[in-house]
Amino acid sequence: MTGRPPTVALRNSRDSAALNLVGAGGHASVIADMARCLGMAGVVLWADDEPDLRRFPVGTLWRPLDELDASLPVLIAVGTIETRARMRERFPAVTMPLIDPSAIIGHGVVVGNGTTIMPGCLVNANARIGEDCILNTGCIVEHDCVVGANTHLSPGVRLAGGAKVGSAAHVGIGAILLPGVSVGDGAVVGAGAVVTHDVRAGVTVVGVPARETVASHARGG
Ligand SMILES: CC(C)(COP(=O)(O)OP(=O)(O)OC[C@H]1O[C@@H](n2cnc3c(N)ncnc32)[C@H](O)[C@@H]1OP(=O)(O)O)[C@@H](O)C(=O)NCCC(=O)NCCS
Repeated sequence: MTGRPPTVALRNSRDSAALNLVGAGGHASVIADMARCLGMAGVVLWADDEPDLRRFPVGTLWRPLDELDASLPVLIAVGTIETRARMRERFPAVTMPLIDPSAIIGHGVVVGNGTTIMPGCLVNANARIGEDCILNTGCIVEHDCVVGANTHLSPGVRLAGGAKVGSAAHVGIGAILLPGVSVGDGAVVGAGAVVTHDVRAGVTVVGVPARETVASHARGG
């Protein structure tokens, strides 16, 4: 992919250019706003409980999750990694990526289907982002970084050149990864942490410099 990749409207058999979102909370409200900025015809929220639609752009619809046809492509609009994974298992048809028009995407960047790149993100040359990720508001992902599937980079995360984050990992708001460090699958990086060394799969690290939490040690990592 070169330059700014195309932003895409998602289509299903029932609604023209409708974006099907699984989820109806705060994260979904930001994605619905992105869809509005992209000029999409409509957003359908699929969720168990009827949300307060006043929190969403005019025209947003709600339908019960039980009625969702698993063959329709959906964007998982829930922030929690475990819920996202569960929902993707239940509704395997993945959409294209959704990229906010304000995001800057460099040369050679690859973005997986179902991934959301939110307002103000910067993804530099040759970075590779897996499927179903969230690059939340204002993330910086530098050149040659690799981010695995279903990983959530919270708002303001900064990954220096060549850093790697595994799949199903969560990097907390404002955290920093120094050049070339790796964070393993399923790991959690606490808000504001500075990761100076590789982080093992499944552990939680916090602080500056980032260290494994006592709970992580107690679980045997
Ligand atoms: C790291 C994190 C996952 C730990 O959560 P937790 O397991 O529930 O941990 P607790 O809140 O019980 O805190 C355990 C200890 O770690 C400390 N701690 C928690 N988060 C910390 C952080 N980010 N940096 C430094 N210390 C932290 C707590 O103060 C506490 O210390 P104490 O035992 O001395 O009182 C969580 O605090 C965090 O940072 N999450 C990121 C949230 C985020 O960015 N969300 C973005 C949504 S868009």
